[in-house]
Amino acid sequence: MTAKPAGPPADLVRELYLAGPDPHGFRPSTDLTTLQEAAHKVLPPSAYGYVSGDAGTGATRRANREAFDRWRIVPRMLRGITRRDLSVTLFGSRLTVPVLLAPVAAQTVVHPEGELAAVRGAADAGVPFVLSSFSSHSMEEVAAVAGEQPRWFQLYWPSEPTVAESLVRRAEASGYSALVLTVDSPSFGYRPVDLDHGYLPFLHGLGLANFTTDPAFRAGLPPDADESAVIAHWVTLSTNPALTWDGLAWLRELTNLPILLKGILHPDDARLALAQGMDGVIVSNHGGRQLDGTMATLDCLPAVRAAVGPAVPVLMDSGVRTGSDVIKALALGADAVLLGRPYQYGLALDGRSGVRHVLRCLLAELDLALTLSGCGSVRDITGDLLAPAGLLTASRGDA
Ligand code: FNR
Ligand code: LAC
Repeated sequence: MTAKPAGPPADLVRELYLAGPDPHGFRPSTDLTTLQEAAHKVLPPSAYGYVSGDAGTGATRRANREAFDRWRIVPRMLRGITRRDLSVTLFGSRLTVPVLLAPVAAQTVVHPEGELAAVRGAADAGVPFVLSSFSSHSMEEVAAVAGEQPRWFQLYWPSEPTVAESLVRRAEASGYSALVLTVDSPSFGYRPVDLDHGYLPFLHGLGLANFTTDPAFRAGLPPDADESAVIAHWVTLSTNPALTWDGLAWLRELTNLPILLKGILHPDDARLALAQGMDGVIVSNHGGRQLDGTMATLDCLPAVRAAVGPAVPVLMDSGVRTGSDVIKALALGADAVLLGRPYQYGLALDGRSGVRHVLRCLLAELDLALTLSGCGSVRDITGDLLAPAGLLTASRGDA
């Protein structure tokens, strides 16, 4: 099944006004912040708990949102903005929008078609997809349905080097054009909701497809291994808490793909990443799922950007929910943002169409936010467009 490709972002607004009210009330809301509650109603409690859950008290997730709220856009008028250019270039490849789908594990937890539906919905909306190491469909299956948008592979570095190498080679061979090495998860965070449910998808065999299809992983198992033996083997090698900065040299040698480190918050870690030959960083706290009480990512972004300079790709995620949030992140130093839970809620509600809907809404709002801010292009978004919430000082520039 192929969906009609989505038109320019602002077309969604026209389409919805012309469509009038939804007679059946099935259409998901265009207010993406309401989708969590809608998804809550359709998902089993353990699945909803896994996707929506936080580490600890949820302080990091709340901080992520509060940081966006502390900044205000100071729009400029009468600039004659009739067209917008949302495109950005990363690693020599042009992305039509400054938004990617964040790697999210085990997407069959929320929808039977999992990553296959998500990557199709992303392609419908022209948005690049980052596939988790812990996906429910193998990277080759996802590549086969993914379309033309750039795709990146997120690596959780297995403690068994033959498996790590095999995953990287397979990602190269199946057309993933960058590696995202997630470094904030030497173990899962303390997640009370999942602990109370006694639920982790992987222990039910979900999210292991890249491993069960991997010859190096299978080589460590007897041919007649049953599911519990496969899961036990995965538990022993799926991540490598012993990894250090020096260890990155091995990966750098192994592949020519650009490598971004995901989970960087401290500017010194951003500097270390560059010193180890990494190509970019993703300022992320995993949407507040790992360490409770960390800094908000938006608050870390300017220092990380200053540490790496203007030319190195810096992306951010955690708490992005609206087009105005994207503008704020770009103004504070990001080249692009990643979206996590909102597209999972869209996937839960309506599969591929739900993901497409979420992305079209976000991009329509971003496109309008550019118009209303007086920016013709995402390149026009600078720090000057923002002020801290409170009174605007009279000393702002006169440009
Ligand atoms: C994640 N995230 C994540 N990150 C990663 O590098 N590998 C992974 O497998 C996963 N898995 C995962 C599962 C679920 C259910 C969620 C919600 C998140 C983190 C993700 O990539 C991203 O950093 C956050 O989701 C961004 O925050 P928001 O947009 O959810 O607030
Ligand atoms: C999570 C892991 C898989 O956040 O990254 O659940």
